[in-house]
Amino acid sequence: MAINGELIKAHLVNVREDISPKANIDYLSDKEIKKVRAFHKKFEEYSITPLHKLENLAKYYGLKNIFLKDESYRFGLNAFKVLGGSYAIGKYLADKLGLDISEVSFEYLRKEAKEKLGEITFVTATDGNHGRGVAWAANQLGQKAVVYMPKGSSQIRLENIRKENAEASIIDGNYDDAVRLADEMARKHGWVVIQDTAWDGYEDIPTWIMQGYGTLIDEAFEQLKEHSVEKPTHVFLQAGVGSFAGAVQGYLAAKFGHDRPITIIVEPDDANCLYRSAISGERQTVDGDMPTIMAGLACGEPNTISWEVLKDYSDGYFSCPDYVAARGMRILASPLKGDPQIVSGESGAVGIGVISLLMERDEYQNLREQLGLDKNSVVLLISTEGDTDPKKYKDIVWDGDCTSI
Ligand SMILES: Cc1ncc(COP(=O)(O)O)c(C=O)c1O
Repeated sequence: MAINGELIKAHLVNVREDISPKANIDYLSDKEIKKVRAFHKKFEEYSITPLHKLENLAKYYGLKNIFLKDESYRFGLNAFKVLGGSYAIGKYLADKLGLDISEVSFEYLRKEAKEKLGEITFVTATDGNHGRGVAWAANQLGQKAVVYMPKGSSQIRLENIRKENAEASIIDGNYDDAVRLADEMARKHGWVVIQDTAWDGYEDIPTWIMQGYGTLIDEAFEQLKEHSVEKPTHVFLQAGVGSFAGAVQGYLAAKFGHDRPITIIVEPDDANCLYRSAISGERQTVDGDMPTIMAGLACGEPNTISWEVLKDYSDGYFSCPDYVAARGMRILASPLKGDPQIVSGESGAVGIGVISLLMERDEYQNLREQLGLDKNSVVLLISTEGDTDPKKYKDIVWDGDCTSI
């Protein structure tokens, strides 16, 4: 059943005038990200994830093209998050050993770190994907991982983390409570927090995590070139704490400056902390349970450093109900003839859900025009996960389940 009414709440901002100083984005420059990618390339599991062209969907919507990067193929872990956790753990160990991360392999780190630093416990909080990435990286290095998950986390996501030899549990609190618990336990036991969000006084590791995500956008530009596209005109980035969106946004701003693509940050209504922050001009938080199906985006406290990047460089913020993500999943699962079929999970598909509504519905005509979405537009989306909860995926795609609207 199609759902009508106001689905997308949009807040556009004008960040195009050259007001200085703007947030530092040097650490997300092409040059820095190339070094990160050099580290990732040394993994046996490394391969470039597909960039799909949704030519027929683009034609149907009167757009020039739609490209979608498919992170379900990342390292066999079904989501992009391992890029951040692996790079941050690698960088932490390399720094401790006095080595340059861009020159060492994971193999070398495994041996040296075990020998010279002994066993280290890495601790983190996660809805699933980040924790799985951290657990995987720690396991590969022969180190320990402890992972806390918020109330309501999916059992299969918990099991997948345990399969990586991590000590994982679901707590009685939301994502932000789990982050606080990880920090508390690290202080108590001398563990190292590998968190995919920053707060005052905890910034180095989240910065490395954001740099780690840079590998995917660096790949995407290489792939776009193969399609003779130098630059997309529009990029839609889903956000939880905003580290992923901030990383891509920073990369785009560093690469293209004023001529960067129009970038929109997309969040679920239940956890729209960046949307609220943009409206108020100050970093805002959302408390309490966040029952959205977009589990990866169910975070109420923006990353302090990525918020600075988004605030200064992103063109708009959308907040939407679960229906939008579910619609995106279904569109990708049953594409127009000639387009590829893509398995995209709840947090991965919200961007295509947004595009579909913007381009189809009369009530978004103004918004479409404001954004300049037309026959010259080349849209880039990133499906950040596959079916990381396969049962939920089928409930939504096969059975049309979409409980919270
Ligand atoms: C699949 C997926 N997409 C997007 C995100 C959002 O990333 P961030 O929390 O950095 O905004 C997450 C976060 O866990 C995720 O798991």
